[in-house]
Amino acid sequence: MTYVVTEPCIKQKYTDCVVVCPVDCFHEDEEMLVIDPDVCIDCGACVTECPVQAIFPEEDVPEKWKAHIQLNAEKSKTLPMITEKKEPYRNC
Ligand code: SF4
Ligand code: F3S
Repeated sequence: MTYVVTEPCIKQKYTDCVVVCPVDCFHEDEEMLVIDPDVCIDCGACVTECPVQAIFPEEDVPEKWKAHIQLNAEKSKTLPMITEKKEPYRNC
């Protein structure tokens, strides 16, 4: 099991999720963050931190956003890690 960042994160990137993660699972591209499923310890701490409810346990990802399960797994392997909060996307 893992947790997955989905559609609502796109062009939001609040990055509050990164602050509470006890391990280094988060990676970022220009528009959103993704979680490395091999690093996530399924603690669930990030879920309630996200102001736009973008993070779900893998089995609870809404049907319309299921593609993000594979996207998180793939993109997290090549994108740079993010470990600290930064300005949200809209302020960039
Ligand atoms: Fe990090 Fe826990 Fe969220 Fe996984 S569920 S990304 S370990 S905060
Ligand atoms: Fe994205 Fe929410 Fe984290 S908008 S960066 S998943 S706090």
